[in-house]
Amino acid sequence: MYEQVSHSLLNRILEDIKPEIRKKQLHYFYSRLGANFYAIHSLFHLLYGKRDDFEEQMARLVEVLAKNYIQRRKSAKRLDRQRESDHNWFLSQEWAAIALYANSFAGDLEGIGGRLAYLQELGVNMLHVMPILKCPPGASDGGYAVSDYRAVDERVGTMEDLEALAANLRQREMLLTLDVVVNHVSDQHEWAARARAGEKKYQDYFYIFDDRTVPDMFEETLPEIFPENAPGNFTWDPEMEKWVMTVFNTYQWDLNWSNPAVFIEMLDVLLFWANRGADILRLDAVAFLWKKIGTVSQNEREAHLILQLLKDCCQVTAPGVLFIAEAIVAPVEIIKYFGEDAVIAKECEIAYNATFMALLWDAVATRNAKLLDEGISSLPAKLDRATWLNYVRCHDDIGLGFDDADVARAGYEPAAHRRFLLDYFTGAFEGSLARGVPFGRDEKSGDARISGSLASLVGLEAACEQGDEEAIQHCIDLILLLHAMIMSFGGIPLLYHGDEIGTLNDPSFMQDESKAHDTRWIHRPVIDWEKAERRHQRGTTEQQIFDGISHMIAVRKSTPAFADFNNRELIDTRNPHLFAFIRSNPVDFSDQVLVVVNFDELPHAITMDDLGHRSRFARGPLRDLYSGEAPAMFSDKLVVPPRKFYWLSTRG
Ligand code: GLC
Ligand code: GLC
Repeated sequence: MYEQVSHSLLNRILEDIKPEIRKKQLHYFYSRLGANFYAIHSLFHLLYGKRDDFEEQMARLVEVLAKNYIQRRKSAKRLDRQRESDHNWFLSQEWAAIALYANSFAGDLEGIGGRLAYLQELGVNMLHVMPILKCPPGASDGGYAVSDYRAVDERVGTMEDLEALAANLRQREMLLTLDVVVNHVSDQHEWAARARAGEKKYQDYFYIFDDRTVPDMFEETLPEIFPENAPGNFTWDPEMEKWVMTVFNTYQWDLNWSNPAVFIEMLDVLLFWANRGADILRLDAVAFLWKKIGTVSQNEREAHLILQLLKDCCQVTAPGVLFIAEAIVAPVEIIKYFGEDAVIAKECEIAYNATFMALLWDAVATRNAKLLDEGISSLPAKLDRATWLNYVRCHDDIGLGFDDADVARAGYEPAAHRRFLLDYFTGAFEGSLARGVPFGRDEKSGDARISGSLASLVGLEAACEQGDEEAIQHCIDLILLLHAMIMSFGGIPLLYHGDEIGTLNDPSFMQDESKAHDTRWIHRPVIDWEKAERRHQRGTTEQQIFDGISHMIAVRKSTPAFADFNNRELIDTRNPHLFAFIRSNPVDFSDQVLVVVNFDELPHAITMDDLGHRSRFARGPLRDLYSGEAPAMFSDKLVVPPRKFYWLSTRG
């Protein structure tokens, strides 16, 4: 019944749609729209059905889908169809990603073209070019305060430069990921300017209040994201003489997604960038899309409905394009951004694995895998046709967002353990070589997150200063071990530019007024290409790290067991310092890889017979896919040296 209603509405919309759209050859469009319309209509109705202008908005949405389909290039449409027929294409072990800033990596977008050979030497084939959309001068949260969703920021280039880069990447079979900042805009965006000028239509794009009544109600339960630089969640706009919701920085106005006009604008923006050559769109801060008084306004059901609706719409116009969810929330919440109660991904196909990232850092500090084991064991299985982005570092801070129950099961008192980790990574803990700095310290709770480059956090900066060769080697081993984890765990490894050559903290941001208040800039360095050259000199730190990582990527690409099909099984090693799992080739179960890492400074052993029914590994002989050699064995014990990993195969 409902289905019939939705289809008669669709027919009406299609009849009314502008005649020039109707005339076009839209075969694939109509069949995809037909297949998805029931879902699109139901979701749109759930979100906006109570409004008088519902049908009008629904028609507008279909028009946006059609317009962008017509503008989509033939080559992109061909790729859409190819990906539709090979719909698990992105779960392959052959992908390895890197995130980089156009300006600090290569000067600008054009410069990236000149650096692709370097990236190919490393082996990565998925590029996340950090925000490139137009932003106001001065502070713009690293590009996450967009003032024009359809323009490239002139500091990094032009639209032509971007399209040239996209074409260049495609020729090399590399993928392009672009950010679409969906939760908020810059206070300099035209929508904000028109709201400020009093236009009701645009005031409705935001959460704007005459006085503190509603803001105060919200504040009772809203946490603060940037408690130091942007306390509170509302900002007074003196020109408009009203309060605006600004959950992140004061100059980032939260969009009001309960307004269907905002949904349609943002859908149009997403499809615009899909049509400019993006293979993947990174949706920023998706947990925050729906605000409700009396809640923390994160992970609300409607935020999920919005993402499902965006996905279904994208399936109609640009089905080859994937979404990445950036939701840095509790482990059980993150997984929901793939979609809930669905067999295939219904929201975002890819999500940042912030849980695994934070757990890895816990293992670095404690030198054991107790919490890592607990945290991974509690992680619910993900949907089919969904995958993680596994990373060690990124442009943001490290939040210690573990599940307290897991922390307790690992034998720690949660608050004390977090304090220890903060002390450890900021170097305050006796014996720690880490050189991190606190980020977002909350005076009320004493909590803080951690900034710092990978190399400085593992101790390389301090070890170099002390000229301690042995310590330097340990840091290199740790950097490689952490990368071995993200390469083999299941999901797409996401490197962060500079980490492949051991880039240290860069304190120069302190001299820049627009950055000094935000310690995340300490790990957003300008890439030092002279340092990168040292990767060609045998024995240098740069050479060891770069070659180690590029070799891992090469091995990963030729190891089908590393593809991501829920084909991982955790192993109880009976030793808290070791973390181990078995990965199985999804098409040939006799092809398995045993991954073992030792987070400690001492060697540890696994009794191979304890692996029980996985006697294949006990029988041996074993070969480490990374070194190509047999691992150290002593009778039936596998010996894992300090800070080392194995990728063991029984195949010769
Ligand atoms: C995302 C970005 C982060 C930014 C925030 C607000 O989380 O990764 O850098 O500060 O969104 O836009
Ligand atoms: C919070 C947000 C995340 C953002 C980060 C920036 O963790 O959840 O979206 O990237 O802050 O520090």
